[in-house]
Amino acid sequence: MSEQATTTEGRTYPPDPELSKTANVRPEMLEQDLESFWDEQAKQRLSWYEPYDKVLEWDQPYAKWFVGGKLNACYNCVDRHVEAGMGDKVALHVVPDDGPDSSEVRDITYAELQRRVTAVANGLKELGVGKGVPVGIYMQMIPDAVIAMLACARLGAPHTVVFGGFSGKAVAERCNDLECKVLITQDEAMRGGKAAPQKTNADEGLDASPTTVEKVVVVRRTGADIPMSDRDVYLDDLIANASDDPESCPCEPMESEDLLFLLYTSGSTGKPKGVVHTTGGYLLGCATTHNLVFDVKDDSVYWCAADIGWITGHSYIVYGPLANGCTSVLFEGVPGYPDQEVWWKIIEKYGVTILYTSPTAIRAHMKAGEKHAQAHDLSSIKILGSVGEPINPEAWEWYREHVGGGKAPIMDTWWQTETGHILITPLPGITTLKPGMAQQPFPGVRPEIRDDEGNQVPVETTGNLVLTQPWPGMMRGLYNDDQRYRDTYWSKYSDAYFAGDGAKYDADGDIMLMGRIDDVVNVSGHRLSTFEIESALVEHADVAEAAVAAKKDPDTGQAIVAFVSLIGDKQGTEELEQALREQVAQSIGKLARPASVIFARDMPKTRSGKIMRRLLKNIAEGEELGDTSTLVDPSVVEEMQKQVNG
Ligand code: WTA
Repeated sequence: MSEQATTTEGRTYPPDPELSKTANVRPEMLEQDLESFWDEQAKQRLSWYEPYDKVLEWDQPYAKWFVGGKLNACYNCVDRHVEAGMGDKVALHVVPDDGPDSSEVRDITYAELQRRVTAVANGLKELGVGKGVPVGIYMQMIPDAVIAMLACARLGAPHTVVFGGFSGKAVAERCNDLECKVLITQDEAMRGGKAAPQKTNADEGLDASPTTVEKVVVVRRTGADIPMSDRDVYLDDLIANASDDPESCPCEPMESEDLLFLLYTSGSTGKPKGVVHTTGGYLLGCATTHNLVFDVKDDSVYWCAADIGWITGHSYIVYGPLANGCTSVLFEGVPGYPDQEVWWKIIEKYGVTILYTSPTAIRAHMKAGEKHAQAHDLSSIKILGSVGEPINPEAWEWYREHVGGGKAPIMDTWWQTETGHILITPLPGITTLKPGMAQQPFPGVRPEIRDDEGNQVPVETTGNLVLTQPWPGMMRGLYNDDQRYRDTYWSKYSDAYFAGDGAKYDADGDIMLMGRIDDVVNVSGHRLSTFEIESALVEHADVAEAAVAAKKDPDTGQAIVAFVSLIGDKQGTEELEQALREQVAQSIGKLARPASVIFARDMPKTRSGKIMRRLLKNIAEGEELGDTSTLVDPSVVEEMQKQVNG
């Protein structure tokens, strides 16, 4: 593959003419005007209790879509499919942690999903959950998590899902912020063959300070004997006598702009941002992009290997695919367990036609070697997707070759928690693919790449990615924080949404994403803020000051390097390094654990006392530092460099 390059001189892959003929997406859609495109989609894809009277009301920075319309997300994802005679269609192929050969694999049809969602919704009602009463969900990749989300949507109760790998502290913070009355969790997590605490993590967080959570509902996953208090109830017991007849708990008609969920995400300060998503526009954006980007047909078998704790799981495991009545795989486990072939066995067993995953997962498979994929029949695969971080061309080529049989097109989809659904992506049958590039805006999306002064940058020049037109799934602000919403996304430019990503155009006008330009780091596609990690580090009694930078990592995309100065004459030892890494894992979650800790006398500061973060990044990457003359004490960085370079 020596002729392969990383950008414009690289290989290109024109669309397969057969796919161009049959693809759901039509080239004319790209020409359609914003409102008529989405109006058409909304009428075709969603069922409304009451029609909307206005497609879009745009009062920058707040959008309202499908104003006056009423619908219910659960009805659209479940009930209407059963009513349409699709009750026997499989909604979820459930694959437990120990893989597709496990005796615990099972299929959940749309009819069964409807009954289980109804029963759980009836149970939640017993606890006082109803329209507008928020619920926290802290679970792993088990069907009950999907059911819990849908049960909330059925009742009109906003949910906030907290990634199952986050700490109890993170759960408590988020639940208290949204004032959740109920938290749904599971007894234990099963991942990679090991049981790990889940419910007791939540307890630790909830018990650490006053909480709004009054009831904790516990799903039995492993059946472990865990401490239960008066606050707790097992889901089994809660719904033992609950009706599962859908008519016993009809879907609540919601306004288009009623809150569907909040999802907290990392930003440039310590406090996570509560990203607000509402019902009509969000659901439509997910359903439309899911259908068109992945070319979903009636017999598609779709697998999104993300986690429901992230936006990808919300939009492309739950709301998009289920709204489209699609059959999905739901896998509880991790790549590499019980063996390196588990993913390929899943694809073979269920005849997966669409696989959507992250570059980190692809790189992990690449490292394990293609022989594992080659040992299985993956010929069912038609479309591949990538999300969460830039995909390097080597991983792209490997993915196409060894998973896509040398022909499946790869949709490198760019979007964010804030955008709700895919915005920049190739389109099947239309786009000539370029490895490593997300390339083109989805219909109706208007990106620009600007310099700091607001001018559009020339080709091959990195600038800031912005969006100049609203889209249906865009965030409706940050929960209870209008100012932060405006400051973060709408103050850099007066007329556009500032995404926080660097990007550039190539000579053909295709877009390449270059990574975050703020203090957000992206480890294995998981979004973390340097400030959050720094706050966790300074909680340790020995730490005076901490600063965090990211360096490139061949496996995880980025890895976290922590720079720490200690109190008094405390010495940086290996034990302390371990303790600090553990501290971060405890406080935020294991995924935030720094790859390395560098001890220093001080941080590189300017005379005005500001830490020069750019230098930390250079040091972490082992790069030349350039001008350090504005530092109070340049020898600090030399010491740091010595430690990094060994
Ligand atoms: C990054 C995940 C390059 C980007 C859906 C964005 C990507 C952040 C891509 C959002 C991609 C996501 N190419 N970078 N295809 N997709 N990103 O909120 O930096 O967890 O701003 O949403 O991931 O992360 P989030």
